[in-house]
Amino acid sequence: MTNWKEIDQKAKEWVREAGERIRDSFKSSLSIQFKSNPNDLVTNMDKDIEQFLIGKIQETYPGHKILGEEGYGDDVTSLDGVIWIIDPIDGTMNFVHQQRNFAISVGIYGDGIGYIGLIYDVVHNELYHAFKGEGAYMNEIQLPMLDKVKIEEAVIGINPVWVTENKRIDHTIIAPIVKKVRGARSYGSAALECAYVASGRLDAYLTMRLAPWDIAAGLILIEEVGGTASTLTGEKLNLLTKNSFFVGEKNLHEHMLKEYLNR
Ligand code: IPD
Ligand code: CA
Ligand code: CA
Ligand code: CA
Repeated sequence: MTNWKEIDQKAKEWVREAGERIRDSFKSSLSIQFKSNPNDLVTNMDKDIEQFLIGKIQETYPGHKILGEEGYGDDVTSLDGVIWIIDPIDGTMNFVHQQRNFAISVGIYGDGIGYIGLIYDVVHNELYHAFKGEGAYMNEIQLPMLDKVKIEEAVIGINPVWVTENKRIDHTIIAPIVKKVRGARSYGSAALECAYVASGRLDAYLTMRLAPWDIAAGLILIEEVGGTASTLTGEKLNLLTKNSFFVGEKNLHEHMLKEYLNR
């Protein structure tokens, strides 16, 4: 039998330790490399944190599988068993340019069901965490269930690039949403944007393409506060592939799908 409570306690301990490593790293110089293109950055710390977390997991739970952005985990092809889905630094560009607005994201799943979600805003020392069926928290504070919100009063998260002509979506679908809402914001960390939806700082967040490690923890937080998550056209998300992504307060999510995204 999987001891989820013990896993939760250890995961929180390791994520906080990883945060400490990142804070310490601010004193030393960073080594920055490019991945797929000059805007796709990776640093020695992305790699260090992923390896640190994987080391802890493998030592304590050799039977668990790990899916990590930087590729030090396993080649995960099914959701069977216990899987840790890790983004060591979500928002690497912010980490490099701003030293804020980034987070460590860890989602832990059992046979495809999300049990534990941790999103750690290292700089603000804010750990957003959720345990299946027990609600979501920011540090010690329980996050309330999301309240119904009208689109005119909504603040949404979106990358401004989607409002301009782009290869992934017809931008004329997105522009009317940005016009209608009270405000649109772009933080540059999908995990934090999910945590913000869970904590009511944002009412929705949408984007065209995210990987499992960007959303694995956020999905568990959102579930615990009664929010809805899907692809941009309302389909179920697949944790083994990249997806478009749309998360928000339940009524707002339904309204935006019907009136804007699925017209
Ligand atoms: C990125 C961030 C960003 C999102 C990108 C992601 P990374 O993750 O979440 O907000 O727009 O699509 O790749 O690479 O900084 O972990
Ligand atoms: Ca990256
Ligand atoms: Ca990411
Ligand atoms: Ca990352």
